[in-house]
Amino acid sequence: MSSDLSSRILLILDQQGSIQDTSALEEGLDQQEVFSALKSLESRSMVAFSAIEKEIWKPTEEGKQILEFGSHEVRVFNAIPEGSQGISIQELAKVLGNIAKIGQGKAFKNGWISKDGNRLLRAVSSVHDSTKDELVEISSSGSHQNPATIKDLKRRKLHISYSVEKGEHFSTKIEKQETDLTFQMLQSGAWKTEKFKEYNFDAAGLPTKGGYFHPLLKVREEIQQAFFEMGFEEMPTNHYVEASFWNFDALFIPQQHPARDAQDTFFIKDPACADQLPDFYKEVKKVHEEGGYGSIGYRYPWSEEESKRLVLRTHTTAVSGAMLNMLSKINPSGSAKLFSIDKVYRNESVDATHLAEFHQVEGVIVDRDISLGSLISFLDTFFGKMGIKRLQFKPAYNPYTEPSLEVFAWHDGFGKWVEIGNSGMFRPEMLRPLGLDPGIRVIGFGLSLERPTMIKYGIDNIRALVGHKIDLNMVENNPLCRLDKAAIVDAFSHAE
Ligand code: PHE
Repeated sequence: MSSDLSSRILLILDQQGSIQDTSALEEGLDQQEVFSALKSLESRSMVAFSAIEKEIWKPTEEGKQILEFGSHEVRVFNAIPEGSQGISIQELAKVLGNIAKIGQGKAFKNGWISKDGNRLLRAVSSVHDSTKDELVEISSSGSHQNPATIKDLKRRKLHISYSVEKGEHFSTKIEKQETDLTFQMLQSGAWKTEKFKEYNFDAAGLPTKGGYFHPLLKVREEIQQAFFEMGFEEMPTNHYVEASFWNFDALFIPQQHPARDAQDTFFIKDPACADQLPDFYKEVKKVHEEGGYGSIGYRYPWSEEESKRLVLRTHTTAVSGAMLNMLSKINPSGSAKLFSIDKVYRNESVDATHLAEFHQVEGVIVDRDISLGSLISFLDTFFGKMGIKRLQFKPAYNPYTEPSLEVFAWHDGFGKWVEIGNSGMFRPEMLRPLGLDPGIRVIGFGLSLERPTMIKYGIDNIRALVGHKIDLNMVENNPLCRLDKAAIVDAFSHAE
C-alpha cells in the first residue's frame, strides 16, 4: 500500500515538478503514511521534502451539534410559533432541554424574541444562523477569521503535511534494492552492479532479549535479603568437595552413621582422599572414641583414613562447622550470625520432588545465653519474612544437635502441614573440639531452596524447575519473587 503511495507521489512529481502541500493530494489522506513513503524515497535520494505545520480548527462536540441542528438561539426562535400566543417558558424547556436557557439569552440579546408575562413571542419574522455558518466554514477550511465569537465551539489541532521536490536520483520507477549480499552474487560477480539498500542507522531495531533469572535465583535473592535485614553475614560456600572430616566427623556424626553410606553420599574417586586433616582432628577423634564435655562419646575406634575420604558435601553444615572453627581462632567467645545458600548433593532416588542435588539454605547464630526459645522465636521471625506465619515443631534427631526440631508450616494450598526445615542447638561434642568456649551456644537450621520456590511458583515437579528438560519460557515468563514481607509484623505480634 505504501509503495502504491510512493509511486503516486513520484508520478505527481513527474507531472507537476513539485508538490506544494501533500494535504491537498486527497481528502483524509493519512499524513503519517505520506511521511513513511517520503522517508523511504528520501533514503534513495529520489525526493526531498520538508514539513508544513499548520494550526487547524475543528468544531467541538457542542459545535458538531450546532452544525447538525442549528445554533441554540435559532432553535429557540424556531420553537416559538408565529403569532401572539408564543410558547410558555416551561414548554420551551420541555422541547429543547438544557439548551433552552442559553438559547433564550442569546435570542433576547439579538432582539429575536420578546417576553409577555410567562410567554415568549417572536420579535422578528425570520433569523439568520451566523453561528452555524461560521462553524460550517471552520469544519470545511480548518481556519476562521473571527474566532472570538464562537470561542467555545471549536478547538485547535496541529496538522502536519509536507512539501515535496524531486531529489537527485528522481525517477518514476522504484528500483528493487537488495538487502542481503548472497553467495550467488559473490560467485557470479553480480555484487558489482547490484543496488543495495542503505543501512538505516536510525531505525529503532528489535528489542534485544537479555538474560532471565531462574526462579531459584530469584527466591535465593529474596532470602538473602531477609538474612541481611536480620544482620547475618554470608559464608563462603565455594567448596563442593569436602573431606568427610568437615562434612561428618567434625559435626560429631559417627563413622558408622547410615548417612555416610555410598547409598546416601557421593564419594570422589580421584583423588579419593584429602592430604591432611586440621590439627584439632585429635580432639574430634577423642570425643568420638571416649567422649568429653559431659558426654561418653560413641566408643568405637575412629579412623583417620575414613575421615579423609572426599565427598560431594551432603549439607552446608560442613561449611558452618569450618566457619565456627575459624571464628574460634579469632574470638572463641565471640558472637556471630552466619548464613549460606548453595548446592548440596545426596545420592537419592530421583522422583517428582527429589533430585540428587539441591540448594540448602542454612543459618547459624552464635551467642551466649541463647536457648531453644531463641531458636523458635528466630524461626518464627525468619519464616514470617518468607510469608509463612503458622509453624509447628516436632522433636527430631540429628547427631550434631540436641534438642533438634523439625519445622512444619501450614500450607494453605495443600491444606496440610508440610515439613520445611530442620534445626537444633549444636552439641558441645561438636562445638568444643571446634574450639568454642564452653559458655558459647550455637543454634542452627537448614531448609531446601527448592521447596519454597516450588510453592511460590506453583511448580509441582522438580524436573520442571531444574535440569535439562526445563522449559525456558518458564524461566522467561515467571515474575519476580516478592516474599510477603508484611508477614513479619504478624510474626512479631504472635510472639508477644
Ligand atoms: N544439616 C541439616 C540438614 O541437612 C540442617 C541443619 C542445620 C540442622 C543446622 C540443624 C542445624 O537437614
